[in-house]
Amino acid sequence: MFTDSSDIYDLVYSFKDYEKESADIIQVIKSARPECKSILDIGCGTSEHHKYLSKYFSIDGIDLNDKFIVTSKQKNPSGHYSVANMKQFDLNKQYDVIICLFSSIGYLQTVDEIISALKCFNKHLKPNGLLIVEPWFNKDNWHKGKVHMIASDKEDIKICRMNRSYLSGDFSILNFHYLVGNMDKGVQHFQEEHKLRLTSKEEMFNAFKLADLDVTFDEKGLIGRGMYYGNKKTTP
Ligand SMILES: C[S@@+](CC[C@H](N)C(=O)[O-])C[C@H]1O[C@@H](n2cnc3c(N)ncnc32)[C@H](O)[C@@H]1O
Repeated sequence: MFTDSSDIYDLVYSFKDYEKESADIIQVIKSARPECKSILDIGCGTSEHHKYLSKYFSIDGIDLNDKFIVTSKQKNPSGHYSVANMKQFDLNKQYDVIICLFSSIGYLQTVDEIISALKCFNKHLKPNGLLIVEPWFNKDNWHKGKVHMIASDKEDIKICRMNRSYLSGDFSILNFHYLVGNMDKGVQHFQEEHKLRLTSKEEMFNAFKLADLDVTFDEKGLIGRGMYYGNKKTTP
């Protein structure tokens, strides 16, 4: 995953408008759950959204990557952050809203893992809680065989990430090549393989239902990848 690129994650994704995305999330939460006070972010990464969300809510996060957890704590000192696997975790706490953004759920490799994760999310929601999941693509809307490049050009560091993605069964495989240049280390090259499951809308809907969550889907979402909304039932 982001093992070798953890230190440059925020630079690689500096093109992403986290402030606007957070404003959109805040609007959804204020309208759907005006009483919301607490949020758990699953697969929080470096918690860039939390810079904005923490002005309105108390927000905690979990991620598999320990370096991201350190960065998250620095960005939002009042939040509780821990290394945990979304497939199976227990924070012994419930939240008004749970978010899982920027396709973090796409890293789960089977439908059973998605069901197990969603059941776990449900367990961490208060009654009438809201789950917001931004998915990865599915086989119908993922453009296979594309060459993709992201560049970040700062005074003291230059980064280029390029990949040629391909389809393998139910998976999109993204083999990222990074070129990172700075005065200290010169120009370094490394690779990272990201394997994300192309889960269909039908599989996701079934998974939400099996996790006892009422589900709706918004085609557009934050950045065109869509958004699932899961409502926890108030009565069992
Ligand atoms: C594309 S990043 C998104 C990070 C962040 N939500 C954002 O919007 O920038 C995907 C994140 O999911 C995390 N992740 C992937 N699989 C995970 C798992 N099974 N449990 C917890 N985190 C996971 C990765 O470590 C990574 O931080």
